[in-house]
Parts: sequence; structure tokens; C-alpha cells
Amino acid sequence: MAQQAHLRVWHGDSEGGELRDHHVDSYEGEVVLDLVHRLQATECPDLAVRWNCKAGKCGSCSAEVNGRPKLMCMTRMSTFAEGETITITPMRTFPVIKDLVCDVSYNYVKAREVPAFRPPEGLEPGEYRMQQVDVQRSQEFRKCIECFLCQDTCHVIRDHEENKEAFSGPRLLMREAELEMHPLDEYPERREDAKQEHGLGFCNITRCCTDVCPEHIQITDNALIPLKERVADRSYDPLRWLFRKK
Ligand code: SF4
Ligand code: F3S
Ligand code: FES
Repeated sequence: MAQQAHLRVWHGDSEGGELRDHHVDSYEGEVVLDLVHRLQATECPDLAVRWNCKAGKCGSCSAEVNGRPKLMCMTRMSTFAEGETITITPMRTFPVIKDLVCDVSYNYVKAREVPAFRPPEGLEPGEYRMQQVDVQRSQEFRKCIECFLCQDTCHVIRDHEENKEAFSGPRLLMREAELEMHPLDEYPERREDAKQEHGLGFCNITRCCTDVCPEHIQITDNALIPLKERVADRSYDPLRWLFRKK
């Protein structure tokens, strides 16, 4: 039997908008995205929302549900108290295009700035050989579905638009860590690049990115902190320091 859910949904565009209240039927086993679709199918046919897989795997349906970065397709209605108002707003860190759809191109611009994997000279794709033990750590990072919820929640850019130029955010710093840990990557200045070009120093290890990751990737402990340690090793290694002084 249907129950009535009280949704408060943000409607608007880059010029501004407002929260509007809606009462939508909700059935057992449904997720927030089901109700957003029902809203579209009934009173708001022009409501803009991005989604694709409805299985937590495409990373499209990212939004903020009661102020928390969430995948709408993985947020069960049963997690809310009966009669609770469920507020759905677009990700705050990125410019709104319309309603719940944001312009996430910042992330793609930053991704393009990460120097590509550089294999040893003479090795062609298909000839790469490595031990499982050597890729074990970075394999976790490959689970990323690029939902950008970690980017949305990181206070360095969420509260400071001006930092976007210098800081690439946890998802892209994790990509740097992945390549830095890759046994065959020979790009010579990856640590320096993470520090100088992607703003690793801005991260003060608040772990908010890790808390919201739907893939439960240990972004802070397994990527960002080890990357910081490697950068520190390089910067404070006395032999390297002496060498640089010459
Ligand atoms: Fe999403 Fe996690 Fe990837 Fe960040 S690291 S983009 S939160 S899947
Ligand atoms: Fe931001 Fe994650 Fe660091 S939330 S401050 S990148 S630990
Ligand atoms: Fe694909 Fe939600 S629709 S992750």
C-alpha cells in the first residue's frame, strides 16, 4: 500500500531557484530516485535529474539528501522516519544547470591535467607484467564510479570557490596516488605534480570525502595520506636535499 512522502525539492537554474514541497506516493522497497521519477511522471514533467543505472554504478544521480551528499538510487526510503521531510538539492560545490543537474566539468578539466600513465620505454600495451602484490593497494581506487560526491563534500572547494584553480580534490588526488603506486609508471615528477599542480597541501585530512564515498574507498587513509608521506619523503630526504643544493 502506498504511503505519502513529503519531498522538498530544489527547482531552479543558474539564475536562482527555490525549494518546493511535494507529496508523492511511496511504496515499500523504494529509493529516493523512485520518488523523484514519480514526481516527474505526475506534477513536474520538466524536473531535471541525471541518472542512468539505478544500481549505484554509473555515478550519475548524485545530489544532496537532507544536506548529505548521496546517490539518490542508493538511498532507501526506509532510512527516513515516518512523516519526515526529505529535502533534495543539487550538489552545492558545482554550478547548477537546472534543478538537480549540475555542471561537473571542473572534475573533467582536473582529470585532464593529471599526467597520463607512462610505461617503461619499449614496452607496448599487452606487454605489461606485474605482480598482484604490487597492484593490490591501488586496485581499490579503480572501484571509483566518478559520482564526485567526495569532491562535493570536501570543504576546501565546497566553501571556497577560489580554491578550485589550485586544488583538484580527493578524486583526482587519488588518481595521482594510484599512478604513483603503479609499479610500471615512470612519470618522473608525479609527487611534485600532486603537490604543485593539484594542491595536495590543501588537504587537511578531515576524511569527509571518505565518509561519503558510496564505494567505501578509503580515500584519505589509503590514497591521500600515503601520497602526502611520499611527497614529504622526497622533500625532506637529506640526500635529495643536498643534491638539489648543488
Ligand atoms: Fe565517488 Fe568515491 Fe569515486 Fe569520490 S572516490 S568520485 S566518492 S566513487
Ligand atoms: Fe578534503 Fe578529503 Fe582532504 S574531504 S580535506 S580531500 S581528507
Ligand atoms: Fe547510476 Fe544512481 S543512477 S549511480
